Amino acid sequence: MTIEEKVGQMSQSTSLATPFSENIKQEIRQGRWGSFLNAGSPADRAEAQRIARQESRLGIPLLFGRDVIHGYRTIFPIPLGQAASWDPALVEAAARTAAREAAAEGIRWTFAPMLDIARDPRWGRIAESPGEDPYLASVLAAALVRGFQGASLDDPASVAACAKHYAGYGAAEGGRDYNSTWIPELLLRQVYLPPFHAAADAGVATFMTAFNALNGVPASGNSFLLREILRNEWKYSGMVVSDYNAVTEMIAHGYAADASDAARKAVNAGVEMEMVSTSFRDHLPALVKSGDVDRKTIDNAVRNILRLKFRLGLFDEPIPSPATSHVTPDSLAVAERLATESTVLLKNRNDLLPLSNSIGSLAVIGPLADSRVDQMGTWVMDGRAGDVQTPLAALRQMLGDSRVHYVPGLRSSRDTNQQEFSAAREAAGRSDVVLLFLGEEQVLSGEARSRAYLNLPGAQDALVDAVAAAGKPMVAIVMAGRPLTFRETADKVDAILYAWHPGTMGGPALAGLLFGRTVPSGRLPVTFPRSVGQVPIYYAHLSTGRPPLASELGVPAGTPVDPHGYTSRYIDLDFTPEYAFGYGLSYTTFEYSNLRVSAATVPMGGTVTVSADVTNRGSREAPETVQLYLHDVAASVAQPVRVLKGFRRVILKSGATETVTFSLTTNDLAFYNEKLQPVTEPGQFEVWIAPDSAGGVKGSFTVK
Ligand code: NOJ
Repeated sequence: MTIEEKVGQMSQSTSLATPFSENIKQEIRQGRWGSFLNAGSPADRAEAQRIARQESRLGIPLLFGRDVIHGYRTIFPIPLGQAASWDPALVEAAARTAAREAAAEGIRWTFAPMLDIARDPRWGRIAESPGEDPYLASVLAAALVRGFQGASLDDPASVAACAKHYAGYGAAEGGRDYNSTWIPELLLRQVYLPPFHAAADAGVATFMTAFNALNGVPASGNSFLLREILRNEWKYSGMVVSDYNAVTEMIAHGYAADASDAARKAVNAGVEMEMVSTSFRDHLPALVKSGDVDRKTIDNAVRNILRLKFRLGLFDEPIPSPATSHVTPDSLAVAERLATESTVLLKNRNDLLPLSNSIGSLAVIGPLADSRVDQMGTWVMDGRAGDVQTPLAALRQMLGDSRVHYVPGLRSSRDTNQQEFSAAREAAGRSDVVLLFLGEEQVLSGEARSRAYLNLPGAQDALVDAVAAAGKPMVAIVMAGRPLTFRETADKVDAILYAWHPGTMGGPALAGLLFGRTVPSGRLPVTFPRSVGQVPIYYAHLSTGRPPLASELGVPAGTPVDPHGYTSRYIDLDFTPEYAFGYGLSYTTFEYSNLRVSAATVPMGGTVTVSADVTNRGSREAPETVQLYLHDVAASVAQPVRVLKGFRRVILKSGATETVTFSLTTNDLAFYNEKLQPVTEPGQFEVWIAPDSAGGVKGSFTVK
């Protein structure tokens, strides 16, 4: 290969416009592009591939990448919603479906899974994240990689996955997208890296570098992340792509002087393919000539790129003919199940839910009851609004048009025009129950969609007030890309279902939950603050020397109290979150009892088993996600008050009891010490088997 051909492989472009230009065709013939992203119609991609394979000197196939984030044609819940299912097998099935649909249209590489731990709901990309916890995120990372990549990459229904954004992107200061992140290495290793490591161990084909500067060094020029950790420690042998323009953005970061400097720093740090900006194409040949970049660095990068193309079978498969994917009964069934399992029941006063089928009529109110596009959420390139089934449509189908009184009240989540409020109140007045579809429209979460307020936007709170005047039981169904703060509205309604952005089948899934055809089982993958002022708030925090006391709870919001206790809290708001990590109600109640630990003392290197009895005390069969938490009581680096160490989904019939058992080896108890080594230290450990991060039954054991 000539240096130009090698650098071509290392270059990725978006410019496959429809119809694509003679100029691009010529550059493909010359081997000047190795990959295209988010570009072209299936026919254009097929034609571009034909040119690359048949008319370029070396016949190297192109690799088409795309943001297939939570579905391709069939849209599943946003990733944060999927995480709320705590169901890796189902999440894997959804990724498999997305891979099949994308691959059929010539896309063999997805820029997913996004594995950024996110503890700040202001950050719009929390919607794309697996939430706040490294253990849950790691389990989901492996599931997503398996789903996208299938048993083998050369299965024509598989797509190469991409662990992104490596690393630390979710810790953007102030929750403002692309902002700097400052993460001590200990925290990086303990919290931010594990999901990436899990993806690497699961065989993820590619990594994407992040936009942010981590501790002052942009991730796309960060050899500590890319060489020391990824290659040397984790022995990763896949390929590394930059994020969009992230190589030349190192100039704006103040880390590279110009594009040539950026190319040199990125490639020397370990970036192998440049997304969109063209500093590799423009400068690498000269940098190799001058000796600033070693030819071996280029050769290794090209090897990793070509190996991926071989592994995908791109050299061998017939020249593709354009095809079109459609939703199918199977894909819709997976989407409906995942939307069902992702939905979290936050409140259910007097067991208002599930609603009875014999109910007379329903008022359906709110800007998100019938909004096909908003319901799909962020990062949807290929989902079709026409395929989306909204709650309004599903409820009408279930109950018949005449029993559903629909008044949107507001045109969008940000609308402030109250003209329709009296009609909404009137519809509520002639219905038995009011369903309020509230939340955030699609464009309020996702990339570059950071918010400084976490409230329900527009006049939604006022809409709830107006409707409440009718005095009917009210259910809020919230569709949003992040945790929102809506305490006052929450107090006014009887029940709350948090549905995130549930995707194509959100309507039938919600109708099924509302009427008890299914039972809510979603659990929060992220802590819900009471107010934006508590952010960042997450369950796996350290204790302070002056932990707040339960007796200090109950301050009326906004009422400053005298801080005579001098504990770590707020004087104008409770220190606890609105809803804890792991929280979610069911239509039944589960009782946890009888925690047993296999031995009071565990030798270093040994295994301990922890079990508890979980009993379904209600009248319905229901799934329950049983969670295992651990606390290392005294360690050479203080450890969080609780960390998640396991979870299991069980389905219990009414009245049934199941003993749920977890095993922990002493390696599972390890943390990073001051020398940044993973260690388990002797001493006491507390364990909980729990329905969420705030409750459960507790025991303890000692490691000797
Ligand atoms: C920028 C985003 O940060 C990244 O997640 C995405 O994959 C690329 N753009 C390509 O669209």
